[in-house]
Amino acid sequence: MLKMKKLLLLLCVSSSCLAAEPSAERQTEIRALLQNSCSGCHGAGLQGAMGPSLKPEALANKTDELLITTITNGRKGTAMASWKSTLEPDEITWLVGVLKSGK
Ligand code: HEC
Repeated sequence: MLKMKKLLLLLCVSSSCLAAEPSAERQTEIRALLQNSCSGCHGAGLQGAMGPSLKPEALANKTDELLITTITNGRKGTAMASWKSTLEPDEITWLVGVLKSGK
């Protein structure tokens, strides 16, 4: 048991806590969602428009938790909606990694 915990901890230290990666097909769909939906408010290159920039520079100081919670639940009283009916938790974790790394 203890060994398992150590292993998980190690996985979490490298990259964004290695949540199960979405399949290649899902990754393509999520990237399309970014281009087609998120860009509507965050700008065509996600550089910021009505919504704030989602570029790595802009997100660098924000915790993964904050960004994951925002995408999952949206932000009350703002245009940012909840995406939890579209994206699985693992997919949101992966997406935050993509946004933060700009890849
Ligand atoms: C209808 C407009 C709209 C759409 C579509 C939208 N957002 Fe947002 N988003 C916003 C606004 C406005 C904010 C800022 C909310 C605030 O004032 O705190 C925001 C905030 C965020 C934040 C937090 C950024 C920060 O600096 O704290 C993230 C991350 C985010 N959006 C991701 C996404 C993703 C990913 C999508 C697509 C799946 C998306 N948004 C779609 C309007 C939108």
